[in-house]
Amino acid sequence: MSKDLYERAVAISQRAYAPYSNYLVGAVVQTKDGKIFDGVNVENAAYPLGVCAEKSALVKAVSEGYKPGDIAAIGITASPCGGCRQWLYEWRIGEVSYSRADGSIAQATAAELLPDSWDLPA
Ligand code: THU
Repeated sequence: MSKDLYERAVAISQRAYAPYSNYLVGAVVQTKDGKIFDGVNVENAAYPLGVCAEKSALVKAVSEGYKPGDIAAIGITASPCGGCRQWLYEWRIGEVSYSRADGSIAQATAAELLPDSWDLPA
């Protein structure tokens, strides 16, 4: 299922705003009730202010009312960075499909991508 999301992420990556790195990233999330939200990386001349594609897709879902545990899967055209892995973990995404640097497609859970992860103490 999330291989299809990966293909959609490849298509949407063309909308990325990445004039500084020229590295276009797309991400597509699917909610458990079947909604789809696309995201792209959005860079800024003040470089640290840029936003990753995974975050921009998740933010769209969140602003539509989705909560941690409501997202079934995400497809990403890059191996998620460390910060995005923390986001994917917070949202408890069960299927993450992404392309590795060598072009192969990997699939993992968010928890597998962030071993020995940190949580706020209850
Ligand atoms: N990027 C993402 O959008 N997601 C990732 O997981 C890896 C990196 C973006 C951030 C920046 O705009 C560009 O790729 C180069 O780092």
